[in-house]
Amino acid sequence: MQILVTGGAGYIGSHTCIQLLNSGYEAIIVDNFSNSKPEALKRVEQITGEKLKFYKTDILDQEALIKVFEENKIEAVIHFAGLKAVGESVTLPLKYYQNNIAGTLVLLEVMEAFEVDKLVFSSSATVYGEQQCVPLNEALRVQATNPYGRTKLMIEQILQDVYQSNNNWSIALLRYFNPIGAHESGLIGEDPSGIPNNLVPYITQVAVGKLSKLNVFGNDYPTYDGTGIRDYIHVMDLADGHLKALEKVLSTRGAEAYNLGTGRGFSVLEMVQAFEAEIGKRIPFEVKARRPGDIAVSYADPSKAEIELNWRAERGLAEMCRDSWNWQKHNPKGYKKITENQVTS
Ligand code: NAD
Ligand code: UFG
Repeated sequence: MQILVTGGAGYIGSHTCIQLLNSGYEAIIVDNFSNSKPEALKRVEQITGEKLKFYKTDILDQEALIKVFEENKIEAVIHFAGLKAVGESVTLPLKYYQNNIAGTLVLLEVMEAFEVDKLVFSSSATVYGEQQCVPLNEALRVQATNPYGRTKLMIEQILQDVYQSNNNWSIALLRYFNPIGAHESGLIGEDPSGIPNNLVPYITQVAVGKLSKLNVFGNDYPTYDGTGIRDYIHVMDLADGHLKALEKVLSTRGAEAYNLGTGRGFSVLEMVQAFEAEIGKRIPFEVKARRPGDIAVSYADPSKAEIELNWRAERGLAEMCRDSWNWQKHNPKGYKKITENQVTS
């Protein structure tokens, strides 16, 4: 069965492609490589021993997307393609609304034209904004605090409207918490361009010597050690969640949101300690002011996904740290440089 994966060369998309191929699906990738490299797809093929079909295509290019649908018999779409840097979205909101929202509209129109009505969408825990209590469950009122988050929120609303207008659609809105880790082979992983915005790639780049020290953004939050608490989830667990969501949309109708998180939070300092234990050396850090827009605590109530998708995160923090570090140490320059351990096709 052919599944279109937009943004399939990216961090979460590439890991999901592995699980798709391992489960016997055919993955058709559409990616403009604005935040990824074709090398990631070669490595997916290397890991799985399966071939991927890929189009270097922008989802905003309707004609090109139509060609993809004409040339393949697509049964469902997993839609990862999007820009995701919160800070950049504040300075360049139009870029985010254009790429994420207009891109999704083009995709939906083409899907509709080809009568493909099954969709798994990458939403984000960012749609919860700041809430009074945790864990966060799908029934809470959603709100976003920055343009990136608003693109996710608006797309969720667009997709609900699409379902309301035509109940044949089947849509899963997956609200990811904080994906980290990498495939256990160390061949694929997160490859941020420039200085990482996110905690874990920053920590591993300090450990590998690319950055001198971690900046801990605030130690005066109302948490047990004063630093921010997040629900870190192994990217391979997230990939498995997509397979379960795909099964769901292939077999039912509706538009449902699901949290993909572990249900457990860790503070920034706990993450530093966990990585120090894995790597066997100190991660130097300095406490800085809070990062604007950050919240104190975010972790999921993952029970809806467990009940309705039959999915739950299986991998623990030690495995997340091991696999993040395994990827980083074998690929200190990300996909740019291939170490002697890696063979490319
Ligand atoms: P990523 O940047 O690694 O992957 C996104 C992919 O989409 C990239 O390969 C990029 O080149 C591609 N892309 C972007 N715009 C495109 C366009 N117009 N046409 C074609 N391809 C395009 O990001 P990721 O971490 O893998 O995230 C995947 C999705 O999950 C994104 O939608 C993101 O917003 C969402 N998400 C990510 C996180 C996270 O922390 N990584 C958390 C919540 C939600
Ligand atoms: N942090 C630091 N130093 C850093 C980076 C982060 O102390 O250099 C702290 C943050 O203040 C926060 C925690 O580490 O307390 C996690 O920060 P990340 O940037 O790794 O993740 P966020 O929770 O801020 O955001 C991520 C994605 C968003 C997504 C959100 C929910 O970047 O796109 O998870 O899924 F919306």
